[in-house]
Amino acid sequence: MRLPYYFIFLPIVLAVQVPFKAPLSSPVTTMNAPSTFAFKEGPDVFSPKDLVELGRPGTGVANPAGDLVLVPYNKYSSKDKKVNRSIFVAPLAGSGRPFEIPVSLLFKGGEAFWLDGRTVAHVVEGDKKLDIYALDIDYKKQDSDEVGTVSAPNLPTLLGSFPTTTATNFRYSLLSGQLVFSDNVYPDGNLSAVKEQDEAWENRGTTALVYDTTYERHWDTWTGPKTTSLFSVRLVQDPDHKWHFGSQFTNILKGTGHSCPVEPFGGTDDFDISTSQVVYTAKDPDLPPAWHTKQNVYIIDILGGKPRELTSGKQGATHNPVFNKDGSKVAWLELDLDGYESDRAKIVIYDLKKDVRYTLTQQWDRSPDSLAFSKTGEFIYFTAGDNARVKVFVLPLPPTPSKSTTDPDLDTKYVSPVAITDGPAAGGLQSLYYGRLLITQSSYTSPNDVFLVSGLKDLESEIGRSDTLITFSGEIKQITRFTENDLKGKNLSKGESIWFKGAEDKNIQGWILKPKGWKEGETKKWPVVLLIHGGPQSAWEDQWSTRWNPNIFAQQGYFSVLINPTGSTTFGQEFTDGITEDWGGKPFVDLQKGWKYVLNTYPEIDPDRAVAAGASWGGYAVNWIQGHPEYEFNFKALVCHDGVFDSNYNGFSTDELFFFNHDWAGRPWEKKSKEIIDKYNPSNFVHKWGTPQLLIHGSKDYRLAETESIGAFHALQQRGVPSRLVIFPDENHWVLNHGNSLKWHYEVFRWFDQFVGEKST
Ligand SMILES: *[C@@H]1O[C@H](CO)[C@@H](O)[C@H](O)[C@H]1NC(C)=O
Ligand SMILES: *[C@@H]1O[C@H](CO)[C@@H](O)[C@H](O)[C@H]1NC(C)=O
Ligand SMILES: *[C@@H]1O[C@H](CO)[C@@H](O)[C@H](O)[C@H]1NC(C)=O
Repeated sequence: MRLPYYFIFLPIVLAVQVPFKAPLSSPVTTMNAPSTFAFKEGPDVFSPKDLVELGRPGTGVANPAGDLVLVPYNKYSSKDKKVNRSIFVAPLAGSGRPFEIPVSLLFKGGEAFWLDGRTVAHVVEGDKKLDIYALDIDYKKQDSDEVGTVSAPNLPTLLGSFPTTTATNFRYSLLSGQLVFSDNVYPDGNLSAVKEQDEAWENRGTTALVYDTTYERHWDTWTGPKTTSLFSVRLVQDPDHKWHFGSQFTNILKGTGHSCPVEPFGGTDDFDISTSQVVYTAKDPDLPPAWHTKQNVYIIDILGGKPRELTSGKQGATHNPVFNKDGSKVAWLELDLDGYESDRAKIVIYDLKKDVRYTLTQQWDRSPDSLAFSKTGEFIYFTAGDNARVKVFVLPLPPTPSKSTTDPDLDTKYVSPVAITDGPAAGGLQSLYYGRLLITQSSYTSPNDVFLVSGLKDLESEIGRSDTLITFSGEIKQITRFTENDLKGKNLSKGESIWFKGAEDKNIQGWILKPKGWKEGETKKWPVVLLIHGGPQSAWEDQWSTRWNPNIFAQQGYFSVLINPTGSTTFGQEFTDGITEDWGGKPFVDLQKGWKYVLNTYPEIDPDRAVAAGASWGGYAVNWIQGHPEYEFNFKALVCHDGVFDSNYNGFSTDELFFFNHDWAGRPWEKKSKEIIDKYNPSNFVHKWGTPQLLIHGSKDYRLAETESIGAFHALQQRGVPSRLVIFPDENHWVLNHGNSLKWHYEVFRWFDQFVGEKST
């Protein structure tokens, strides 16, 4: 049984129930109850302040020669309330003594890419336009064993200016001299006219937005008159080595009705370029995008023209189209079902010479999420989540079948991916010459660093020769160590993987992070937090995060429990699909069984000081647990971030309607869906709510509208349950702003501390 906390915290309840008359601009300060709460901090503690101030390295990009890597790097200063963006260039060679070199001239930030082996292009925001600079990189290296030294001997020179400030996602082909990028344009598709059209739009004398079709808003943006398109422009180098634009900007997709990259998360992963062509993925132009996920892959001349569809027309979403080196083959990731975004992604190969398309990983029960051909074009490297770790795999390409097929008859070696890494989380695959692969990895204990995999030639020839199980025995060398010094002495937890039996006797995985100060054999008891991930089709993976970083909870003294219940990815498609139409079902059997397992296994946990928190589906789970005291979690406080309160309303109000329609068996007014909503809607169980709860929501969250948290808050307040509402007017489904992130952590830990902190025992 839960204690009626509302008696103990009556003064707070009264304070927040005073009729609200404060002006809209200052509600939070007038409602804050006095608090003496402070984070645990110190040289050996990795505090929320350390998290927001820690450097954030991006993905490494190697130069065409494959001897240098550039890495974008951001760092926030709490003192100046500013993000300092810089770019690092590091050598890939050497004996394993890794280091990095800040190219201080690049400190203005912006995107960067390689123009050639020794020239970085750097895009910097100027006055109402973007300027692109070329910067020479000098790399001195005496012999092959040496790491060498990198410097930027000259000032950057202006290459040219884009007419807007929004050009982004740059890909450059050295061989053809074409730079391809994306930008937003009005229906006439003219990049040079955007500035004047923006001014006309701003000064139209009203702020009204009018819609005749869905996707009126998406993720965090109200749809305006502009759409995203791809552009190309020639870059030329004079005999005196000075770079400049060599043509007008060409709108490659003009007249196609296609938009690429696909909003809101598409980037350079949504297209690739060869010397003469662009391959891209775009939402099917004939289907309403709010209730369809179908994306087609097209190929088009780099100067525009008529696109040719490469997909069969029978697929769902597609992602990450890539060319092989000579542009004769394309690979992409393809999902079968239109209307679902979490069915199994399969690798599809298109042989452009033979005009044949075939599915490579039809039999493999994992879902690849990024791709790269080897330099020889005979192998394909890819990442995929596997039991809560994102690993790199390789497969040889079979001879192209005689006709297109989704299920070719292939020898074992073509259908048995060989793992190159065993975690932590890998991404940013880039094939390099001499059997090397560049990857960027992060883990629970470190943000991104660049790693170089070598010895792949031997592996490739071994795979070619044999049909038996092969293990990778090459080298994986760490190239950068961006945050190692900052994290030294903090003793971050690597996370211990646990397994237990859940619903239907399935094996369920989770992670344990022991609290800072925990010592083997001591009898001290610790408060415990259950963290519930969103999605629901995602997973807690051994990966760095600046939101919901489990080590932050461990470092604030909480025994941290992370469970990957039914619906989680990386454990096979059946397990992921198990949550469909069952949001309030199997996952909660898993969570209860996992909770019992953890309490039984770790006597150092104090079950009377237990709390839980989750966002998105995790927030749904928190609201669901509120209404189900019979689960006997005995949580003393809950935190719900951007979670579902009313499943019925959510089925109407969310931006991506396909998501609800899939997971809840139809549209919210249809019979089967109505029955499931009746069964699994958290707002139907408010009469049982009694646990203190903090609600946090971003007003620009158009996935789950802020009224979800407002509704739950009103319910808690009227029931006299201690509750607090924190609104971030400028945040979307995620809290991204550094200052807001710090405030988020303050409110979460202050809330928990009030109910299970040291003084409350
Ligand atoms: C930003 O970083 C660069 C490179 O590390 C450094 O030179 C510069 O002083 C920093 N600027 C600020 C404002 O911190
Ligand atoms: C594009 O817009 C610019 C600036 O308004 C104009 O000079 C140019 O003629 C336009 N191009 C086309 C093809 O309409
Ligand atoms: C670091 O953490 C581990 C696991 O929680 C613990 O065994 C060890 O004692 C800690 N070391 C220090 C120096 O605190």
